Amino acid sequence: MTASFPSRVLVTGGAGYLGSVLVPMLLQRGSQVRIVDRFYWGTEPLAPVLGRVELVHGDVRDLPAGVLEGVDAVVHLAGLSNDPTAEWAPEANWQMNAVATERLAEACRAAGVRRLTYGSSCSIYDGLPGGRTYDERAEVAPRGAYATSKKYGEEALQMLAGPDFCPVILRQATVYGYSPRMRFDLVVNTFLKDALVRGRLSLHGGGWMWRPLVDVSDVARAHVACLAAPEEAVRGEVFNVVHDNYQIRQLAMLVAGSAQLFGHAVALDEAPLPSLVRDYRCSARKLHDRLGFEATVTPLESIADMLGRLTEAGQPEFSHPRYYNIAWMTLLADVQPHLAPFASVI
Ligand SMILES: NC(=O)c1ccc[n+]([C@@H]2O[C@H](COP(=O)([O-])OP(=O)(O)OC[C@H]3O[C@@H](n4cnc5c(N)ncnc54)[C@H](O)[C@@H]3O)[C@@H](O)[C@H]2O)c1
Repeated sequence: MTASFPSRVLVTGGAGYLGSVLVPMLLQRGSQVRIVDRFYWGTEPLAPVLGRVELVHGDVRDLPAGVLEGVDAVVHLAGLSNDPTAEWAPEANWQMNAVATERLAEACRAAGVRRLTYGSSCSIYDGLPGGRTYDERAEVAPRGAYATSKKYGEEALQMLAGPDFCPVILRQATVYGYSPRMRFDLVVNTFLKDALVRGRLSLHGGGWMWRPLVDVSDVARAHVACLAAPEEAVRGEVFNVVHDNYQIRQLAMLVAGSAQLFGHAVALDEAPLPSLVRDYRCSARKLHDRLGFEATVTPLESIADMLGRLTEAGQPEFSHPRYYNIAWMTLLADVQPHLAPFASVI
């Protein structure tokens, strides 16, 4: 059984890597879409849908008045979206990822917006001992500013869940795949860039560590599925969004082999272990058992898709800081202090 799909959806961070893949899917489902975003990467990623979406230039720490008016559901993706940016600007990270999530949920309840899906992260499992596959019942003990702020956001949403409010928490695995707002600071995408630019992939500590991974289009589909689900199936629930768990070494081999088919010779190098090693596995079972949802795009398919697109359209300027969140955010802070994540008002 499915509920009726929301007809008007607000997407926070809708111009980002994930948002710019999700928004066309929502339009396809017949929803009207409003996007609230700082547009740190501009509105270009939304070029195919401009004119069909409403853009609100705003900050989730200081929600523009009326942004929830006429909205049935919210997909909340805005904020600092990786460890390096969160460690670089810990206070901005806390305000954006933790406090703003709680305030947005309170504002939704006050405005009668019943459904909210939240882009949390599997990095929340990172502090748990390796060697096991964790599901949503695990006692998480996040390490670092980013995962800690996501945990607070999750807990705030669960506290506010009730008969009038149906938040759904999606713990997204590390994402791979093509988006109009491309990122090359995510492990598979980084390997692909290194294969094309350097012809070499570095395997730190041999690359034996495990990570849960998922394609960007599958994450977007998971949000759509949670917007469509009956409230009683998802209210206050946490779902991992995972295709599968992979060893970094395995991902490197998939990228190297695929790039070779496109005529690029790629060597694999051993490199020293970094100071912080992330090594954890997560289960995708609950989302499958509860909603029948399965992530379907394999890393191999996604790598082939990216290779095709990046080589057909002419390779992007891979070294451009816009493809690496920490490089781009520090650059924005340097050259345009008013755009820095520290400023709460644009
Ligand atoms: N990409 C991944 O591998 C991954 C994995 C797990 C979880 N997540 C989470 O999913 C969400 C989306 O990730 P993404 O990869 O699309 O990130 P992204 O950095 O590409 O996009 C974030 C978007 O939010 C906007 N934004 C940032 N701070 C804002 C603020 N204070 N107010 C309004 N807009 C703001 C940015 O301009 C950008 O458009 C994030 O919450 C991230 O933490 C991402």
